[in-house]
Amino acid sequence: MKKVSVGLLGFGTVGTGVVRLLTQEKERLEARMGCSIELKKVLVRNKNRPRKVLIDSRILTTDASDVLDDPEIDIIIELIGGVDKAYRYILRALQNKKNVVTANKDLMASYGEELLLEARKSKKDLFYEASVAGGIPILRTLTDSLAADRIVKLIGIVNGTTNYILSQMSHEGLSYEKSLQSAQSLGFAEADPTSDVEGLDAARKMVILSHLAFSIPVRMDDVKITGITDVTREDIVYAQKLGYTVKLVGVSEVNNGAIDVRVEPTLLPNGHPLASVDNENNAIYVYGSTLGETMYYGPGAGEGPTAVSVLSDLLAVIRNMNLGVTGNHIFLPRREMHNREENSIESQFFVRLHMKDEPGSFSLLTDLFKEQRISLEKLYQEPIVGKDIAEISIITHTTNKILFESSFDVLRKMDVVLNAKYYRVERG
Ligand code: NDP
Ligand code: HSE
Repeated sequence: MKKVSVGLLGFGTVGTGVVRLLTQEKERLEARMGCSIELKKVLVRNKNRPRKVLIDSRILTTDASDVLDDPEIDIIIELIGGVDKAYRYILRALQNKKNVVTANKDLMASYGEELLLEARKSKKDLFYEASVAGGIPILRTLTDSLAADRIVKLIGIVNGTTNYILSQMSHEGLSYEKSLQSAQSLGFAEADPTSDVEGLDAARKMVILSHLAFSIPVRMDDVKITGITDVTREDIVYAQKLGYTVKLVGVSEVNNGAIDVRVEPTLLPNGHPLASVDNENNAIYVYGSTLGETMYYGPGAGEGPTAVSVLSDLLAVIRNMNLGVTGNHIFLPRREMHNREENSIESQFFVRLHMKDEPGSFSLLTDLFKEQRISLEKLYQEPIVGKDIAEISIITHTTNKILFESSFDVLRKMDVVLNAKYYRVERG
């Protein structure tokens, strides 16, 4: 039986899942591929760290050359994370004529094009299904299954950690800090969870999705990013009173050849299919010109689900090796990048504010919206007991974003308004 040798870089959460699944399913996978699959070397930082899955300790190494320069290794799986080292290792692997599988969205969002060009030049595969939405097979769905349709918009809940935190705050009443700790102990969060909670991880995934869905070379600088660190339990509760759920949502939309990509905490009407995507689950909602609306849902992070995507990429590489067609399935953006004018963007908005509870203050507020011709869809007022302060929540009708923002600025500075914040609202 022919043998394929694999080198693994990184043996943390996802690496453990890959070794576990490869060991458990070895017989079935080998029969399917018609070859034996040997894990030859595993790069770690610390060989003495206790591991969660049984492995022959002789294959562990702390020297990257043992993996990258071994002529017998056909496929490298990169799971160390980070950018600089991962970039150098993958480049070296491709230059050494090895196929590569990675789950690294930080790297693919910033240097994906360069590495894909190198893969094409070396006639080797570079697959990265696990980099977006963990276990959901969304990248191949966009490039293969939906290839015939013209995609116009994507909405994604693509970060498991923040979705877990917001779900725990919404449904269990837990604090932000407790929910984050729990996401970290479950292995969803990045080594430094700042990139999760500040929206960078979701933005990187939206960059990768935008490349594949629209063939537009969006860069991280093009994405408008707001994380969840300022979302409070009160915001969630008052959104719920108006029939909405707060989620960290990524939106990528093309209009007249120009693209708008943003990641921000957003209110979804409770009836929207994305509103019930909870905990570490992810979902990508795709608007196709002909197919219409479809949603791809499942576990977006964690050891097992991510390992399934990584190993399925490995099998896809082996299939291509068997057919002698590695390096043929490389997608690089073909269209030009044009950012959409902010002034062309329209949305509904949720405004939450505290106002002095005294005669006339409410009409100052409604007069402002009337003057700006911003129409209100829902309004909720509640006194804060014993404080002469009113808690007010508003959902506007669809309005021009720039007009809304300038009106909000006026509102925030009114004498009767003590504090105010707003979120975007996605249509149902
Ligand atoms: P971990 O932090 O759990 O594991 C990283 C592993 O890489 C560890 O085994 C570590 O070694 C090793 N490592 C790190 N730096 C080096 C280095 N410089 N040299 C040698 N070994 C190194 O990360 P995850 O498994 O969570 O994530 C891996 C990748 O997968 C990342 O790109 C992440 O973004 C991505 N990903 C993660 C998901 C998840 O749910 N966790 C889901 C989807 C993608 P040691 O064990 O000795 O410390
Ligand atoms: N930290 C990431 C998340 C892991 O929470 O979604 C999966 O990419």
